[in-house]
Amino acid sequence: MSQRKTYIFGNWKLHKKFNEISLFFKHFNYLIKKDKRINKNPNLIHGFAPSHLGILPAINFAKGKTNILAQDVGCNNIGAFTGQVAFWQLNEFKINYAIVGHSETRKYLGNSDENVNKTVKVLLNNNIIPVICIGESLETYKSKQTNAFLAQQIKTIFKDISLDLIQKCIIAYEPLWAIGSGKTPTLDEIQQIARFIRQSFKFFDDKQSNIDENVHILYGGSANVKNASDLMSLNDIDGLLVGGASLDPTAFVSILKQSKAYKNFNGNK
Ligand code: 13P
Repeated sequence: MSQRKTYIFGNWKLHKKFNEISLFFKHFNYLIKKDKRINKNPNLIHGFAPSHLGILPAINFAKGKTNILAQDVGCNNIGAFTGQVAFWQLNEFKINYAIVGHSETRKYLGNSDENVNKTVKVLLNNNIIPVICIGESLETYKSKQTNAFLAQQIKTIFKDISLDLIQKCIIAYEPLWAIGSGKTPTLDEIQQIARFIRQSFKFFDDKQSNIDENVHILYGGSANVKNASDLMSLNDIDGLLVGGASLDPTAFVSILKQSKAYKNFNGNK
């Protein structure tokens, strides 16, 4: 039986100036300070992804178990790569997670599944856990091609990655049309799609080592205080990638508290 954890990450995108990062963490640190269900809970992992220049201040202001993530990272090593950020820079600052393949990097920066595949390999070989975004457009959703589309994304993104490394990955299912729109698929649809994503990993699992049950799958796209509990009650959803609602410390803490990992924590064990 797989022991999956709950991951709840905030993607701050291009928000928060230096003083806003400082204020955010003052408030956030205060809100969670005495909460063992967050601070001592090995099954509930949380963090924030500021834009690159916000990473250092965020590392300085964040306390305890709060992770700081990168929103994106290049697949190149040191050298003539103007404008890029590399895995070793994340290593230098002990950043353990990086979002890759977010739809906004695909839309505005020309990112592709092939590039995500290269980046995921680099990260996994350098002890950074990739939070890999996949998701369909509204057109694909309406024409009921979501599963076929996601299967293709998974096939390309995980090409030539070993089974033990695939199991370390976190997948964020983010339907493009749900991001920032206030709309989400129904709970039923999200559960079915998450199950489908999980089962797609059987494709790589020639040793039948149940990697499909070990991979973590998050949902992202208009997740908020109101729907977090329902989303995280789904069997195949292991947490959330939160955009807008992660900008507010009170909202984010409320979302953390709605997770099963929070509710089920028994600190005396
Ligand atoms: P919203 O929560 O603002 O819809 O953003 C989701 C997202 O893109 C997280 O990566």
